[in-house]
Amino acid sequence: MNLGFLGTGTIATAVVHALAPEGHNILVSERSAANASALESAYENVTTGTNAEVTTASDVLFLGLMPNQTAPALAGLPFRADQRVISFIADISLTEIASLTAPAKVETLVLPFPAIAKGRSPLIAFPQSQLADNLFQNHDVFNMTSETEFKAFLSAQAVLSPVAQMLAEATGWAATKGADTAKAEAFLRSLVASNLTAGALTPLLKSLSTTGGYNARLRQHLEDNSSYKTLREGLDQL
Ligand SMILES: NC(=O)c1ccc[n+]([C@@H]2O[C@H](COP(=O)([O-])OP(=O)(O)OC[C@H]3O[C@@H](n4cnc5c(N)ncnc54)[C@H](OP(=O)(O)O)[C@@H]3O)[C@@H](O)[C@H]2O)c1
Repeated sequence: MNLGFLGTGTIATAVVHALAPEGHNILVSERSAANASALESAYENVTTGTNAEVTTASDVLFLGLMPNQTAPALAGLPFRADQRVISFIADISLTEIASLTAPAKVETLVLPFPAIAKGRSPLIAFPQSQLADNLFQNHDVFNMTSETEFKAFLSAQAVLSPVAQMLAEATGWAATKGADTAKAEAFLRSLVASNLTAGALTPLLKSLSTTGGYNARLRQHLEDNSSYKTLREGLDQL
């Protein structure tokens, strides 16, 4: 399949790393020149072109543009009725994308995450699309059943950076107490990733609730200081 990417920034680049090894012909726009040329050098099935060349050559077009860049970037491009569009732009409705890319058919809004560049990763999709399910079959596509659910996931996923920040804080703290920084970070990343992928949260939290244990005491300290209340308030405000 011929896949085109308009915008070759952070998320488009990560998705190209995920899809290029699967053998699609990929054309990326020559913006973010360092990203575009690195992708072209890394994969023989990836080439760069102007926005018009990307549009002309593609069966499926991915939009990896910032919201304020989208309308000017898409204006005047030679979209066709036999093309399908997948947008990564959460802040622009699919109705608006459809009017900017007519007569192409807008399939779905997909939110990938940077880890997709390195291996299996979750994506949020709304509405469900067989095309996106097939293209990302080696990943975990979470199809949203309503716009309300999509918005809930869109906000809830923002917990990722506070979680990463907590590990950075614990790594830095351990270093001040005599730990090797790189070793502490590697350990904490492995600890959290392996325990979270091993199973559901409720049994994990139960198993980490030994009275007087280190995990139970730190969790209680954060609870006593309204940390989880603050988290819920922050999610409400997104
Ligand atoms: N980053 C994430 O984790 C993530 C996850 C899911 C969804 N998204 C969404 O994906 C979109 C892109 O995010 P990002 O983080 O990848 O942003 P980004 O790194 O800033 O990428 C934007 C890209 O658009 C290019 N661009 C700007 N004007 C253009 C034009 N006229 N023609 C062609 N390309 C143009 C930029 O090129 P230049 O550098 O040359 O200006 C850059 O390659 C956003 O809407 C964001 O909400 C991001």
